[in-house]
Amino acid sequence: MNVLVTGGSGQLGRTIMDVARDSEHRFIYTYMNSHDHEGMVKLDITDKDAVRRIVEENSIDVIVNCAGYTDVEKAEFEEDAAFRLNAEAAGLLAETARACGATLIHISTDYVFDGSRSEPYGEDAAQAPLNAYGRSKLAGELAVLAAGCPCIIIRTSWLYSPYGKNFVKTILSKSETHAMLKVVSDQIGTPTYAGDLAEFILTLLEPENLKKTGVYHYTDEGVCSWFDLACEVCELSGNLCEVTPCETGEYPVKAVRPHYSVLSKSKVKKTFGIEIPYWKDSLRHCICQIVR
Ligand SMILES: NC(=O)c1ccc[n+]([C@@H]2O[C@H](COP(=O)([O-])OP(=O)(O)OC[C@H]3O[C@@H](n4cnc5c(N)ncnc54)[C@H](OP(=O)(O)O)[C@@H]3O)[C@@H](O)[C@H]2O)c1
Repeated sequence: MNVLVTGGSGQLGRTIMDVARDSEHRFIYTYMNSHDHEGMVKLDITDKDAVRRIVEENSIDVIVNCAGYTDVEKAEFEEDAAFRLNAEAAGLLAETARACGATLIHISTDYVFDGSRSEPYGEDAAQAPLNAYGRSKLAGELAVLAAGCPCIIIRTSWLYSPYGKNFVKTILSKSETHAMLKVVSDQIGTPTYAGDLAEFILTLLEPENLKKTGVYHYTDEGVCSWFDLACEVCELSGNLCEVTPCETGEYPVKAVRPHYSVLSKSKVKKTFGIEIPYWKDSLRHCICQIVR
């Protein structure tokens, strides 16, 4: 199979590159502005002609769209830019996939939900994003579905890896230089190690699995707050830093975040017969990779 991974220079894209190193499939990874892009091809996914060209010239069977506008805070000030990438370009990839007979695997987010529930969100739960990023990602899901290509949309949450910028890496570095950190304890969700999601994406690259189109939730197992996650990062890294809980209101941010965004994984586990790692086990694995 010929697989195009857009956003290959992002944390999920790079992790797919690691996990797929010995894969039987042929992968093409793309970047946009990253300086660290060895072995990747430059592609702006908002450029319709360029997208069509790369898909046709390489007889692409599957597009994995890991590209996105992912800065939740900045999106509040640049909603148009977030929509261009997360919604319009996602729709463009889906239209290209339909025209070229490819399947699209598209990554979305728990932030399509408003967090007013207190039990895990199923795929069909009502979406009501609270911030610009969430609105742009929901518009992206709808554009992909409207294009009518075979597609698998994966909603994930709290993604981290040894690459790029993420909460786990921020806490790791801050806890080395600060004696005390305050972290919000009133936002509940599930961290997802990009390595686990990348492994799942690779299992989708089987003809039988690609037929199982639709929307799926994939996060690691378990539930925690950002405070719990920060405590675990310090515990596992051995950094002697006191982590204290605080409320969201104590932080002056523009983007409203859901208080509860735990996603139910029943559908993905049943449909693909997979087991999903517990978040603390995967966190240990990732921290060993980062600090070794
Ligand atoms: N991070 C999270 O916590 C989280 C949670 C839930 C869902 N998600 C979703 O998961 C996916 C992957 O997230 P991530 O954290 O891996 O993202 P990321 O590290 O921020 O990477 C974003 C990627 O998009 C690329 N990109 C930016 N503008 C582009 C353009 N115009 N054309 C083509 N590529 C472009 C970037 O390329 P350059 O760096 O080369 O410019 C980069 O490779 C996204 O769809 C995101 O919405 C993320």
